[in-house]
Amino acid sequence: MTSWSHGYVADSPYTFSYQAAQAPGNLALICAMMGVDWQPTAHMNVADIGCGRGYTVNTLAAANPGWNVFGLDYNPAHIAEAASVAERAQINNATFVEADLAEMTDAEIDQLPELDLVSLHGVWTWVADPVRAGIVRLLSRRLKPGGLCYIGYNALPGFGGDMALQRLFRHLTALHPVGSSPEKARAAVPMIRALHATKPANLPPTNMLKRIAEDETELDASYLAHEFLTAHWRPVFFEDLCADLAPAKLDHVGSAGFHENVADLLFSPEQREIYEALPMGTPREFLKDLVLQRPFRRDIFIRGLRRTDPVPALDRLVFGISKTLPDKSPNIAVPVGSAEIGPELWEPIVAALREGPQSLGQLRTLTPGRNPNAAELLTVLAGAGCVLPMLRDVGPSEATRNFNRTVAETYWREGRRGGQYAMASPVLAAGIPCSWMELAVAVQLGDAGGETPDPETIARRILPDISGDALEGAKDMVSELLRERPDVWRRFGII
Ligand SMILES: C[S@@+](CC[C@H](N)C(=O)[O-])C[C@H]1O[C@@H](n2cnc3c(N)ncnc32)[C@H](O)[C@@H]1O
Repeated sequence: MTSWSHGYVADSPYTFSYQAAQAPGNLALICAMMGVDWQPTAHMNVADIGCGRGYTVNTLAAANPGWNVFGLDYNPAHIAEAASVAERAQINNATFVEADLAEMTDAEIDQLPELDLVSLHGVWTWVADPVRAGIVRLLSRRLKPGGLCYIGYNALPGFGGDMALQRLFRHLTALHPVGSSPEKARAAVPMIRALHATKPANLPPTNMLKRIAEDETELDASYLAHEFLTAHWRPVFFEDLCADLAPAKLDHVGSAGFHENVADLLFSPEQREIYEALPMGTPREFLKDLVLQRPFRRDIFIRGLRRTDPVPALDRLVFGISKTLPDKSPNIAVPVGSAEIGPELWEPIVAALREGPQSLGQLRTLTPGRNPNAAELLTVLAGAGCVLPMLRDVGPSEATRNFNRTVAETYWREGRRGGQYAMASPVLAAGIPCSWMELAVAVQLGDAGGETPDPETIARRILPDISGDALEGAKDMVSELLRERPDVWRRFGII
């Protein structure tokens, strides 16, 4: 631990990550479906609090030239890295501020402009009470009336099982007083695995514990250190979060995860009866938290809730294909079983989308007499990752191309150890989550200006140090991407 960190892990950087839930298209979709009046505009002031290494801030800034995007974090290593990526990518509408939320004075907070959108992903349940108080102060002072706030956090009771695991981590890491936080976390893992094998009565075999126990490669030690070694890590009940946010006058809009707002997909008939009997708001959300596997909640709040009719709001949203559409509807697992779209609807929808982007209203009226509702269509189309909401009708931009090139070069060595890449899209006004290989190949195609170099040329350019079997493997991967992805990249203005 460093002396200035108030118990948060600051001696190693957090994994770099793009958070898709923060995309304005996703926020607009959820607001529309919940009947809440909010739409992103071309000129907004946006802040990401506890922005980590700034991947999301830089992506949003590159994809929205009319926005001013602020990233606040108290770790100078995070801020320096995020600012350096912005500088190399020539992003001039992202501002990174080294700021401790517990210590920012009102005068410092007021130097920020009035904000249209504030995001906090993975911060609230990791930090001490004075930091949370600072966040609420910032929201109270700077979030505009009508402004949106996205919060992603560890929720109870879903994360309750891991509270014992966190205690165990902390007792075991105390056995290794020397070394960095990730080294201490890594040193604790063998004993955690040994204990898990004995099936102790009160160390629940949660997904996290199973990943630590069984998966040698997936979890990187830096992630574990940030997740479990912070002194103040404390999952919260949704209603306690709402109470803490009350001074900022925030109303709950819904979950940033589409399915979690559709009661039909979540409850058995018996559960549904109890759900309907409960008052709207926190009691119903609590029931969802009992029923869903939801250790991490992603919630959207608004300062000043105004209702709108969800049907026209959803019908106006335009969607484009984000992966090759299968001829038969995918089957999506939902808490009550599975969901799919019958062929009488799926086939005309696929045909229309293959022609070009479509509004939800157009898709809903393709089959006269059938009129599916929006939730029915989006559960499968968006749930299977087949479509994404398109916010702007524009072509490729220099800003997103520069950004994509810069992150492909900056992060390639780290790619295998966790982290989440995305390529910035001016059409989505956000990023498309992807692998490093996809990002690197898209950058090569963009730079080739309409030509498509052969797979070997691309593989040699992006991985100049490899040869033999590794080169053959890379060529195969590039060939597959060249078959599947360029149409999508063109549609979203990436190449
Ligand atoms: C778990 S990370 C999440 C980072 C980023 N939002 C993401 O999702 O990739 C939490 C972040 O909060 C920052 N943080 C912790 N305490 C803080 C404080 N008092 N003031 C500002 N930032 C803080 C950390 O430096 C870290 O980058």
